[in-house]
Amino acid sequence: MQPVKIGILGLGTVGCGTVTVLSRNREEIARRAGREIKIIQASARDLKKPRPCATDGIQLVADVREIVRNPEVEVVVELIGGYEPARALVLEAIEHGKHVVTANKALIAVHGNEIFAAAQKKGVMVAFEAAVAGGIPIIKTIREGLTANRIEWLAGIINGTSNFILSEMRDKGADFADVLKEAQRLGYAETDPTFDVEGVDAAHKLTILAAIAFGIPLQFDKAYVEGISRISRLDVRYAEELGYRLKLLGIARRTDGAVELRVHPTLIPERRLIANVDGAMNAVLVKGDAVGPTMFYGAGAGAEPTASAVVADLVDVVRTLTTDPNNRVPHLAFQPDALADLPILPIEDVDTSYYLRLHALDRPGVLADVTRVLADQNISIEAILQKEPHAGEDTVPVIILTQRVREKNINAAIARIEGLGSIKGKVARIRLEHLNPDWK
Ligand code: NDP
Ligand code: HSE
Repeated sequence: MQPVKIGILGLGTVGCGTVTVLSRNREEIARRAGREIKIIQASARDLKKPRPCATDGIQLVADVREIVRNPEVEVVVELIGGYEPARALVLEAIEHGKHVVTANKALIAVHGNEIFAAAQKKGVMVAFEAAVAGGIPIIKTIREGLTANRIEWLAGIINGTSNFILSEMRDKGADFADVLKEAQRLGYAETDPTFDVEGVDAAHKLTILAAIAFGIPLQFDKAYVEGISRISRLDVRYAEELGYRLKLLGIARRTDGAVELRVHPTLIPERRLIANVDGAMNAVLVKGDAVGPTMFYGAGAGAEPTASAVVADLVDVVRTLTTDPNNRVPHLAFQPDALADLPILPIEDVDTSYYLRLHALDRPGVLADVTRVLADQNISIEAILQKEPHAGEDTVPVIILTQRVREKNINAAIARIEGLGSIKGKVARIRLEHLNPDWK
């Protein structure tokens, strides 16, 4: 089958992230979509400017309109940002019968009603998952996964830049202006960073979420918007001393016959999960009447996390072009004839760290025996802790944390430890995962 040809407007942070992800995961994405996705053109106003992604095989054009008018381009991916010329370009692409994918929340929040009407008239798709909460598929979640519910409220940390600033101010006592510069360097901030720090970007996103959650038109102009620019380090510290964390929250809530739509700095009890969402991470709490409270967490900004959502939208569009529209999303996410024959790993061959609790007689040499057994199985110890004996008992509890080890090795070690004369009873074991973001 012929590849689906797409054109990208804007090769900045997200544009380049999209090029990179589409290229790196080309095969797997094609298996999911049912067809290959091929970028045939991308815009670069300055053709000589170096780009942070490989553009081989992509025709770079200085005039964005060339892409929008190219009859070969089936899907236009708008990654320029801002209101204009993005609005005019998207409307022109729709007019030419092209599907549109965009990450532009400003565009959707302010001009979405007009754009959706045009798309409806032309029978094309406009997909905008990346516009809210970066890599978190929150739009699909609310629109599809929670579709059974009457959504009661939602509250989110939906601006990565301001959350990054507040986190760095709290953790490192860093200066507002310095952290903002760092967020810009990392590609989190908007072209106009006042959108981030004054709450405008969060309000764009909240406007979109509220429309989807409550079935109301997009009404950005009615949102209450207050940012973090007047927050001082003292506020952050005092909030902390009182047991609260300070976050920029977007809140949308149904009240009697109305909807609250507000973005402002907010104290949240530190024991709440969402209070511990730090750095450029985002989280959205959604309360549905059937499901109850749910929370969705992930990277809210950055090249590849955002590209993850852009490409997901592209796959959705391509599926409508290739598959039976009545059965558009494959039940197992991949096309049925593209399922891989990968074996499931038996648990004995899985690697994890372990928490072990054993009860040892309180006499010399016992711990040496245990650690020798572990060493024989090539198991490294992360930490070891001997606790006070329980009243009336002749053994002491010993807690051991191991580094990552193959399950069959720990099984063998445990069997030998339980066989030592100085160990009483069974060894208790719990698997331990650090879940580091860079875990591969
Ligand atoms: P960048 O500023 O990094 O990239 C935007 C690109 O658009 C630039 O490279 C520029 O291209 C091009 N561009 C800007 N103005 C024009 C114009 N008038 N005509 C033609 N091209 C233009 O922005 P991002 O990649 O960060 O953001 C893109 C979109 O994604 C925005 O809507 C943003 O809100 C959204 N978004 C961004 C996230 C992020 O983490 N950065 C996360 C989620 C959404 P050139 O280099 O050719 O001049
Ligand atoms: N500037 C935005 C943020 C990018 O910091 O959250 C992601 O939408």
